[in-house]
Amino acid sequence: MTRYSRITGTGSYLPPRRVTNADLAADLAAKGIETSDEWIIERTGIRARHFAAPDVTSSDLGAHAARAALESAGLKAGEIDLIIVATSTPDMVFPSAACILQNKLGIAGCAAFDVQAVCSGFVYALTVADSMIKTGSANKALVIGAEVFSRILDFNDRTTCVLFGDGAGAVVLEASDTPGILATDLHADGKHVGILCVPGTVSGGAVLGDPFLKMDGQAVFKLAVGVLESAARATLAKAGKTDADIDWLIPHQANIRIMQGTAKKLKMPLDKLIVTVDEHGNTSAASIPLALDAAVRSGKIKKGDTLMLEGVGGGFTWGAVLLDF
Ligand code: UT7
Repeated sequence: MTRYSRITGTGSYLPPRRVTNADLAADLAAKGIETSDEWIIERTGIRARHFAAPDVTSSDLGAHAARAALESAGLKAGEIDLIIVATSTPDMVFPSAACILQNKLGIAGCAAFDVQAVCSGFVYALTVADSMIKTGSANKALVIGAEVFSRILDFNDRTTCVLFGDGAGAVVLEASDTPGILATDLHADGKHVGILCVPGTVSGGAVLGDPFLKMDGQAVFKLAVGVLESAARATLAKAGKTDADIDWLIPHQANIRIMQGTAKKLKMPLDKLIVTVDEHGNTSAASIPLALDAAVRSGKIKKGDTLMLEGVGGGFTWGAVLLDF
């Protein structure tokens, strides 16, 4: 019998501090930097984002999301045999956020590691977990996207600091006789490292280079629009499906204009596009599982619906996962 993987539970967590565009604009104005609620909404669709308290880490946010996903799957943490955390803002240089999170869940022994593919991290992690389940290396996986991007934002740079937020989302992925995940498609092109990066590193007891996020927004925008369509089409072709088979499109939540452009290219009505960028901002690897969980809990996404998940971001990386929920 063919072995598949299927999502059996979802969860998410946002830190309580909600920061509106007006709050950010007031903070920036105090430093002589001009921005406005109108500019941010018009160019990005973002109205608010959540920021974690200074002592809260990605593994803290991820553990909250993981517990919610376990509860919705009806599983105990001890039944999990694989943990993958997608993050670009891990708690430490090492060990992985996944190992720290495993301990916070009160379990030990199962495989646990991080995946670093920036805003494509969740679709990368889901693809790895799917492969490990299909080959029999794992039976019940926690796949988590968790970020504290507020730590790497330069609050003197209005072109980036208004875009990102903190949060975490998680799914439980279990072995199943029926799909489940129908097709996956991952890509990277390292020649674009410089258009979205945090170029600093830790060396000799100090930060070497610039530890803040740098982005050429227009270059990222142009690349994103093209690759989101090609990755979606590749998964549809692999699964023998067409645009019309997609019930819900859940792209990485970076910019409403990119998301709507992708929906149009896939000939999807905009009411089939899951949107949380307005309330979450861009939470990088956390954005897709956060959006998925919000749509499941609001009753939009139902068992049996066909979902197209799509990530794009630093690397440059991109990819898609087509699945029956
Ligand atoms: O998560 C990974 C994926 N990331 C993305 O997908 C992000 C992709 N890029 C974008 O979403 C957009 O490029 C941005 C939202 C980052 C920028 O939007 P844009 O429409 O490309 O604006 P722009 O960079 O062309 O800037 C337009 C103007 C500039 O002023 P001038 O040169 O026309 O006078 C900027 O200086 O807007 C100015 N500007 C701002 N004004 C007010 C830039 N940031 C701000 C700001 N407030 N926060």
